Amino acid sequence: MKQQMKHNQEKTTICIPGLKEDLRIMQITDTHLCEAYPREGEELCRMAGNRHTGFREQGQPGDFTLTDLLQGLIRLSNEERVDGVVFTGDIIDFPSLKNMEVMKSAFGELQMPYLYMPGNHDWSFPHLPVTDEMRVESYPLFQEWFSNVPGCQAIQLGGMNLIGVDNSNYQLTEQQFDFIREQCELGLPSLLFMHIPLYLPSLEPAVRSQWGGSPIMMGAEDWTDQELLNWQIRLPDESTLAFTEWIRRGKGAERIRGVFSGHVHFHHVDAITDGRMHHTTLAGFKGGSRMIHLTKA
Ligand SMILES: [Fe+2]
Repeated sequence: MKQQMKHNQEKTTICIPGLKEDLRIMQITDTHLCEAYPREGEELCRMAGNRHTGFREQGQPGDFTLTDLLQGLIRLSNEERVDGVVFTGDIIDFPSLKNMEVMKSAFGELQMPYLYMPGNHDWSFPHLPVTDEMRVESYPLFQEWFSNVPGCQAIQLGGMNLIGVDNSNYQLTEQQFDFIREQCELGLPSLLFMHIPLYLPSLEPAVRSQWGGSPIMMGAEDWTDQELLNWQIRLPDESTLAFTEWIRRGKGAERIRGVFSGHVHFHHVDAITDGRMHHTTLAGFKGGSRMIHLTKA
């Protein structure tokens, strides 16, 4: 008999003065689906099988597949009748045809609005080299989830603005930074969602200890040359550093009442500044998710 699916859900409550009604938003991240059709090639199917085994060794629970776990989280969102769902990347482990189809059909089951931003895995293949050009070239695959600004999206729910940006190359462009500031100028209380967490000194020890010593956060500047090579990334651009400075004390940044990320695969909460928190959420492949409860008082 199949085990019952156990969810490991963290709860976050944020008080939003002036909110008309309480809202509940579910964050789902890092389910890393590993589906591929046999017609997509032997090499891809073998890699998919190896990756699936790897996730089981890293804490994938019970006798569920990664796809079961994503579908279980979608079911939970519907059963809980949450007001919105946000996917913060690495929902698929690589963009095979089957992964894209399974992900789209899972999203199609949702009975409420949702926001999806890709992570570094949604657009790259683990057995192939990664370049930033590949990320931009993959954008047509994700077109339906972006607004008219590439790598950006926002939805408004019950007086809240949920802003998503693709920072899956550890960078934000000027255009993305402008988009975030423009969204804040709307004057609504906002939440920001992006795959890669912000660099925060208080988050750094846990990240380094779980990721082989590497500071896999956006805005981290003390990468070694070897680590940059291994992770196939570059040091933060000027626009990325300008954003990481702005979010702490820039004009309008106070409207962002919380930042929510995935990527590092564990639950963690840190202060960005007094009263505004940054959250990383346990990977969906480990049964994790986060319920964000926005209360009016
Ligand atoms: Fe991930």
